[in-house]
Amino acid sequence: MRLLVTGGAGFIGSTFVRRRLDATDDSVIVLDKLTYAGDLANLAEVAERPDAATRYRFVEGDIADAPLVAELVREVDAVVSFAAESHVDRSILEPTAFLVTGVMGVHALLEAVRVAQGGRRKSAVRLLQVSTDEVYGPVAAGLAPETHPVRPTSPYSAAKASGDLLVQAYRETYGLDTVITRGANTYGPAQHPEKLVPLFITNALQDLPLPMYGDGTQVRDWLYVDDHADAVSVVLDRGSPGTIYNVPGDGSEQSNRAVTEAILAALGKPWSLVREVPDRPGHDRRYALDGSRLRDLGWMPTVAFEDGIDRTVRWYVEHESRWRSTQGAGWADYYERQYAWRLERSVPS
Ligand code: NAD
Ligand code: DAU
Repeated sequence: MRLLVTGGAGFIGSTFVRRRLDATDDSVIVLDKLTYAGDLANLAEVAERPDAATRYRFVEGDIADAPLVAELVREVDAVVSFAAESHVDRSILEPTAFLVTGVMGVHALLEAVRVAQGGRRKSAVRLLQVSTDEVYGPVAAGLAPETHPVRPTSPYSAAKASGDLLVQAYRETYGLDTVITRGANTYGPAQHPEKLVPLFITNALQDLPLPMYGDGTQVRDWLYVDDHADAVSVVLDRGSPGTIYNVPGDGSEQSNRAVTEAILAALGKPWSLVREVPDRPGHDRRYALDGSRLRDLGWMPTVAFEDGIDRTVRWYVEHESRWRSTQGAGWADYYERQYAWRLERSVPS
């Protein structure tokens, strides 16, 4: 297959590109805007390997740029769309970019697929939208199946849910070959340090405070990045048209306190680094996914949380210059805006 992978310079997208090029003969065009979260270092290994480099091309650009997207979609058999603004806290500070990419960007992709489809009656251009468990909102008890109502609570999750609704509308109206994945909290090497796991690892490495929102009893289902990328591949290859697939983690349901304990234990750092800070507004208490639909396609998570956290911690210990460069020029301003006042009001945990 010839694939267009949007957001392929980000954390999960780049893992997908590397693993897909290893496992198949596919060729891949990566379209990425290189926001603060995109990093070509994530794709350096691909660009430098002769066997993979001939099947890989990078295009810097925006999924909301309709003419560019239309041109690229004409060249491929399928679109796998990871591109999004992905951090909930930033969506609370500045929501606009989330909506532009999540709504207008997804719309530009759908239009390009619809037009490309018109000229190709025999083989459809498949569009896989990478979405999130956050569209369901907090799940008080049990596991959310794909039929769970969509009740997003942050600008980030509302933008993602809007993208999903557009995808489903284009499926119904124009008969496009679409599939959606809704993944759990993903962690692993080379994630931007803004997210909980890498933030707490990199802060602990520097003996900086770990800002835990509220009492840290919120629960997430953690999914190792390789497993997430492989689930997207399985849905791309074998998913039924028009279908949504949840991608759960290892099912161990860790509280943020437990995640923090695991990180500190792996680094040999003390709990006294942890500070309870004022909570994230609209903080969802728990996410938990029913993954039976994807299991029926033959996918299961393979990396247990304890193993994944050890691998992740090791990566950050061994790649200090890399994660420092990923933080980029805007990091100090963001950190100040998000955490300075919270840390002033913090208490020991
Ligand atoms: P990320 O922030 O690491 O990467 C996003 C990538 O998209 C970056 O390379 C960025 O430059 C690019 N991008 C952003 N806006 C763009 C635009 N308008 N046009 C082109 N490129 C653009 O995110 P991630 O953690 O790798 O997440 C990838 C996808 O998976 C997102 O759609 C996210 O909603 C979804 N997801 C993430 C998680 C998670 O825990 N990280 C879990 C479930 C689903
Ligand atoms: O569930 C899937 C989602 O997981 C993805 O769709 C998002 O792209 C991804 O960012 C992630 O969202 P979360 O909000 O769950 O992840 P984050 O790492 O920001 O936070 C995880 C938990 O840790 C959450 O309960 C908030 C808490 N937290 C986070 C940060 C950054 C803290 O207590 N302190 C922090 O400083």
